[in-house]
Amino acid sequence: MLILGEPGTGKTILCSQYLHWGASQSEEKGVYVGLNEPKPRFMTEMNALGMDFTRLENNSRFAYVDATEVRRIPEQAKVGRIPVGGRELGLVNLIDLVQEGIDKLSPQRVVVDSISDLVFRFPNIEERRPAVLDIVEVLQSTGTTCLLTSELPSTGVDRVLQPEEYLAEGVILLRMLKDGARSLQVLKMRGSKVDSIPRPYVIKDNGLEVYSTEEVYGQSAGK
Ligand SMILES: Nc1ncnc2c1ncn2[C@@H]1O[C@H](COP(=O)(O)OP(=O)(O)OP(=O)(O)O)[C@@H](O)[C@H]1O
Ligand SMILES: [Mg+2]
Repeated sequence: MLILGEPGTGKTILCSQYLHWGASQSEEKGVYVGLNEPKPRFMTEMNALGMDFTRLENNSRFAYVDATEVRRIPEQAKVGRIPVGGRELGLVNLIDLVQEGIDKLSPQRVVVDSISDLVFRFPNIEERRPAVLDIVEVLQSTGTTCLLTSELPSTGVDRVLQPEEYLAEGVILLRMLKDGARSLQVLKMRGSKVDSIPRPYVIKDNGLEVYSTEEVYGQSAGK
């Protein structure tokens, strides 16, 4: 499942709530693979929103996998003295790290946050599609339910669908509207009937809350 949204829309919080709920309420262990935030920052930020991942980690219900190094692999990388494609290496490293996390904890839930930096290194759609497919296939083969986050390449109603959107089983779009309202929309969910109306959501001290029966009305409607 792909969570799309611009910076600050709440992708990390949404995914964390998914992992936290699974690990604390429904006996489903979770692994967070972080490409953006080192562990201490993630733990502190989520703790401030009432999610105590340290306790879950101590009870072997949660693991943080640090993948921040993956983003730092230059486009022209080397293994020993052999030049290799840095962007391909980044993908392979990420896939290895995800696999390590899965082997360690046998989780039911996995979050990879975020894949933007890696996949946007393939600006060309023909190259990008197989790269995304690699990640998606590996994740599907693990049998876990996985959320991937990505920044939105372009906004607006006329934007072109990206390969990651075609390949994911489901896509959720988070948007910040011009008047400051936030909206969550399920764009796709393979195999199930979904509510595709944009619904308002807020982020507060206890995290992200969606008003699933309300509509985004007023100025922001239809944008
Ligand atoms: N206690 C809080 N009360 C209200 N809003 C909050 C609170 N804590 C965080 N936020 C809001 O949550 C948003 C950040 O959420 P999050 O880090 O999940 O976004 P993101 O989509 O992952 O961003 P990025 O793309 O930069 O990683 C910010 O807009 C921030 O203002
Ligand atoms: Mg984030």
